[in-house]
Amino acid sequence: MCGIVGYIGDRKAHEVIINGLKRLEYRGYDSAGIALYNGSLEIKKGKGKVAKLQSLIDSSDEAKIGIGHTRWATHGEPNDINSHPHTSSSEKLALVHNGIIENYNSLKKVLESKGHVFYSQTDTEVLAKLIEDVYSKNTDDFKRAVQIALAQVEGTYGVAIIHADYPDQLIVARKGSPLLLGIGKGEMLIASDASAVAEYTDQVVYLDDGEIAVIKKDEYQVHNLNDDSLTKEVHELALSLEEIEKGGYEFFMHKEIFEQPKAISDCLRGRLDVESGTITLGGIKDVLGKIADAKRLVIAACGTSWHSGIVGEYLFESLAKVSVEVEYASELRYKESLIGEGDVMIVISQSGETADTLAALRQAKENGALVIGVVNVVGSSIARETDAGVYIHAGPEIGVASTKAFTGQVTVLTLMAIKLAQEKGTISKEKASKLIKELSEIPGKVQKILDKSSDLDEVSNLFSYAPNFLYLGRSFGFPVALEGALKLKEISYIHAEGYPAAEMKHGPIALIDEMMPVVVIAGTNHTNDKMVSNIEEVKARKGRIISIVTEGNEEVENLSEFSFSVPETEDELSPLLTVIPLQILSYNIAVNRGCDVDQPRNLAKSVTVE
Ligand code: F6R
Repeated sequence: MCGIVGYIGDRKAHEVIINGLKRLEYRGYDSAGIALYNGSLEIKKGKGKVAKLQSLIDSSDEAKIGIGHTRWATHGEPNDINSHPHTSSSEKLALVHNGIIENYNSLKKVLESKGHVFYSQTDTEVLAKLIEDVYSKNTDDFKRAVQIALAQVEGTYGVAIIHADYPDQLIVARKGSPLLLGIGKGEMLIASDASAVAEYTDQVVYLDDGEIAVIKKDEYQVHNLNDDSLTKEVHELALSLEEIEKGGYEFFMHKEIFEQPKAISDCLRGRLDVESGTITLGGIKDVLGKIADAKRLVIAACGTSWHSGIVGEYLFESLAKVSVEVEYASELRYKESLIGEGDVMIVISQSGETADTLAALRQAKENGALVIGVVNVVGSSIARETDAGVYIHAGPEIGVASTKAFTGQVTVLTLMAIKLAQEKGTISKEKASKLIKELSEIPGKVQKILDKSSDLDEVSNLFSYAPNFLYLGRSFGFPVALEGALKLKEISYIHAEGYPAAEMKHGPIALIDEMMPVVVIAGTNHTNDKMVSNIEEVKARKGRIISIVTEGNEEVENLSEFSFSVPETEDELSPLLTVIPLQILSYNIAVNRGCDVDQPRNLAKSVTVE
C-alpha cells in the first residue's frame, strides 16, 4: 500500500521517479507527490493520479536526486495537503512514508509544544518534524537523527528522506513496510516494489525491519537502528519489462486473466511427473515429514488468498485426511492463539507483504509452529520469513483484483495436498495418478474457456446494472462462489454475496425475486443433485439463474436462463476452471459500467497496513 520511489544518479530524477510511480500506482492512487533537490528543495503534490502529478512538473527540471509517493490514505482524507512528501519546519527535509505511525498523536503534542506547526492531518508529517527536531537538538549526524527519531516511533514505516544539507544522499528505513534498493551503475534507486526499478537494474537489496540505508549515487551503507553496519546480500531480479506492461490489453486484469494458462504451466513446470505419478516440491521437501506429522493444519490469509485457503482446506481434508482450519489472518492475530508446537501454518499471499498475514506468521513462529508460505512475489517479506514454502510463479500481478494469483495458489495447494497424501499413504496410486495427469491438462482447459469468453458477453450486458448478485456453490464450488462475488463487488461496485448453496435457505433466500441474478457454480459433480434442488428453489422464487456447469450437464443447463460450460475435470481441480468465467463476467460488467478496472475506488494492491 502506498508506492515509494527514489532516485540518485545522473539522469533527470523526475523522469525515473514518475516512471516508477506509474508502475507502483496499483499500490494506491488517492494522491501523488514528488520532492526534487536541485540547489533547493522543490515539492509538487496533489490529490489524483500520477498522470496529474506529471503535468505539474517542468520537464526540463535537471534535479538528479528525488523521492516520490503514490498514496493510499490512512490518516487524513485524500487532498493536496495530506499528499506526500511532507516537510520539516525548516522545509529542508522532505519525506515520503508507507505505513502507520501509531503514536503520532502523542509525538505531535510534544512537537507542537516545541513550536512546530502542523498543516496536514497525516501521521507522516509528525515523522518529518520529529527527525528535524532530533537533528537540530540532539545530534549533528543526520543519519543518527533519523535512527533516534525512528526509535521513538510505534507502528510501521517504509520511509525515504532527502535533506537540503545532504544533497548527495537518500536515506531510507524500514519497519513493517517493504523497501528495496536497486543498485545501478553510477545510480541508485529505492522503491517499495521491484517493478519500479526493473527498467534500470536487476541488482536489488531487500531491506529488513529495523534497517536504515544511506544511499549515494555509487555506494550504499546499511545499518541497524543501533548503528551497527550490516552486509546485505545482493539479489538478482528475475522480472522482465514485458511482464509489467499491459502488452496491448486495455487493463492489467484482462491481461492477467488471459495469462492464466501460462501462469499455471509455469507453476507446474518441473513439479509434475505424469509418467511416474509423482510431484516434486523442492521448497518443502525437508519439512514434508513434519507436515505429515502435524496435529492440525492452519491456513491464514486475507481476501482472495483466503478463498484459495478454503479450496486448500477441502483438498487437504479430502486427500491428506488432516484437519484444517482456515483463518482470516486479521482475526487470528487478535484472538487467543492456540497455535503452537506440532502445528503447521500455511500462509497464502500473492504480494507476500500483507501486514495481517505477516503478523499471523510471526505469531505462529514465535509459538513454535512450522510456517509454510504459498507466495507469488519472490523475495517478499512473507517469502523470506517463512520456514519453507512454494512459490506460485504467476509473474507480477498488477491489476488490483487478483486473478492469476488465485489459480496459482490453488494449483500449489493442490500439488501440496497430493504430495502430502502420498507421503501419508492416504491416497491410492490410481487417484494420485489421475489427479496428476488431470493437473497437467488444466492449462489447456483454461485456454479452451478463454477461447470462448465472448459467450459471456450477452449475460454480462444483460446484468451490468443489477444492484445485487448472489453466488452459490457447494463443496469445491463454495470458495469459487465467494471469489466470484468478491471479484464482482470490488471492480464493479455491485453488491454481491457468496454462499454455500444450502445455506441460502437459512436467510439469503429472502432476497430472491425476479430481479436477482443468482450465479450457481455447478462444476462439482458429486454435489450436482443437491445443486439441482437449490436451483429449483431459486427458480420457484423467480430468481434468474446463471450457471457455470461441466460440459454435458444438460440438467442444470436446461434449468438456467444462461449457462456457461467448462471442460470436465476431477472435482478437486474444478475451482481452477469454474473461477475463470466468473473473473470474465465481473471484468465485462465493470467495463460496461465504466469502472476503472485496475484501480477500483478505495482499494490498493498489497495491504501493508493493518
Ligand atoms: C482481491 C484481492 C485481495 C487480496 C488480499 C490479500 O482481488 O486482491 O482481496 O487477495 O488483499 O493479498 P495478498 O494475497 O497479497 O496477501
